[in-house]
Amino acid sequence: MATVFLAGGAGYIGSHTAVELLNAGYDVVVADNFSNSSPEAIKRVEKITGRMVKLYELDIKDNSKLAEVFRENSIDAVIHFAGLKAVGESVQKPIMYYRNNIDTTLALLETMKEFGVNNILFSSSATVYGEENKVPFTETMARGACSNPYGWTKSMMEQILEDAAKADKDLSVILLRYFNPIGAHESGMIGEDPLGIPNNLMPYVSQVAVGRRECLTIFGNDYPTPDGTCRRDYIHVVDLAKGHVKAIDYILANNCVEIFNLGTGTPYSVTEIVDTFEKVNGINVNHVYGPRREGDLAELYANADKALKILGWKAEKTLEDMCRDSWNWQKNNPDGYNGKKETLA
Ligand code: NAD
Ligand code: UD1
Repeated sequence: MATVFLAGGAGYIGSHTAVELLNAGYDVVVADNFSNSSPEAIKRVEKITGRMVKLYELDIKDNSKLAEVFRENSIDAVIHFAGLKAVGESVQKPIMYYRNNIDTTLALLETMKEFGVNNILFSSSATVYGEENKVPFTETMARGACSNPYGWTKSMMEQILEDAAKADKDLSVILLRYFNPIGAHESGMIGEDPLGIPNNLMPYVSQVAVGRRECLTIFGNDYPTPDGTCRRDYIHVVDLAKGHVKAIDYILANNCVEIFNLGTGTPYSVTEIVDTFEKVNGINVNHVYGPRREGDLAELYANADKALKILGWKAEKTLEDMCRDSWNWQKNNPDGYNGKKETLA
């Protein structure tokens, strides 16, 4: 079976993708610098699947260390998860974001070329559609203007990968545009473990539920949506991970340059998320309504037809599943993986 290299594979989406790739029979090699993750996540991936993962601690920007990984393993395809992803932080520290996100991409492309590896999947984001495009977003729309450096790194990396494929006909590239991944593996053993105060909705909701935070502020209830709160295309991280397996199957069989939205196509509001979380888990989530958050769009969701048509993939899990599994992870691991901070210190 083929071997897939996960750059940044110890993180939230990478660890779930590792499980699904291993379950599908692929061999998995992971490299991560643990800047936003813990090696414990990979130990748990091994426990869940009963399979081994070869794990390297390194910075993906480091070409010579990366070359060692490619020398020691016969890699058939790469998935590039390694990136910094906090929108607010990217506004404060743009150079750090451009340096890390762009350089990891360049180092991967250079090393792949050196070792004759021709298949790469890239973790992109719905954020590249910008504000100009109308929902639902389809892959044929042009990239829009991003409102922050994080978004621009994604947009630029998409361009870099497309240009590289244009110049090298052997190189196959799939850009996966994620919508809003939430939830966790149903075992409750792996999940999202943000550093510090969560920026994203679901980790904040579950940290309030578990008592780590006092109260959720819902950012704005005067949007032009049915209940006045923003609507997003939330997708269960296990569905998202399965989308990667389908994309790996596809890229190994086709010389291609493709873009796929990975979303459900159905938006839910912030209020619906909070209500569903409370209902399925039988737990209260303290919340208040506050002002809008700068840069938020009222509504954002995918047209997910292309992934179904070409990859035969569609999201299967419900909002109830997402809320139940997020809580199952949080209540079993109230402090996340414990050890992430020790790794960073
Ligand atoms: P994450 O932070 O949990 O995972 C990213 C991993 O990359 C972490 O383990 C981190 O330690 C590692 N990393 C970062 N820079 C590195 C470097 N220079 N060398 C080695 N490892 C490095 O984030 P995630 O939620 O799993 O996201 C994975 C990818 O998907 C990211 O590129 C992110 O921008 C993108 N994405 C995420 C979302 C989301 O909502 N989670 C949405 C759209 C796109
Ligand atoms: C955010 C990023 C986006 C990134 C994505 C995944 C912004 C503006 N956008 O998307 O670029 O790709 O995360 O990392 O940051 N909310 C609250 N209270 C909270 C937190 C969130 O009401 O404490 C609301 C937000 O206003 C939004 C929804 O919940 O309407 C989802 O927010 P979030 O999880 O941060 O995702 P996005 O804003 O969609």
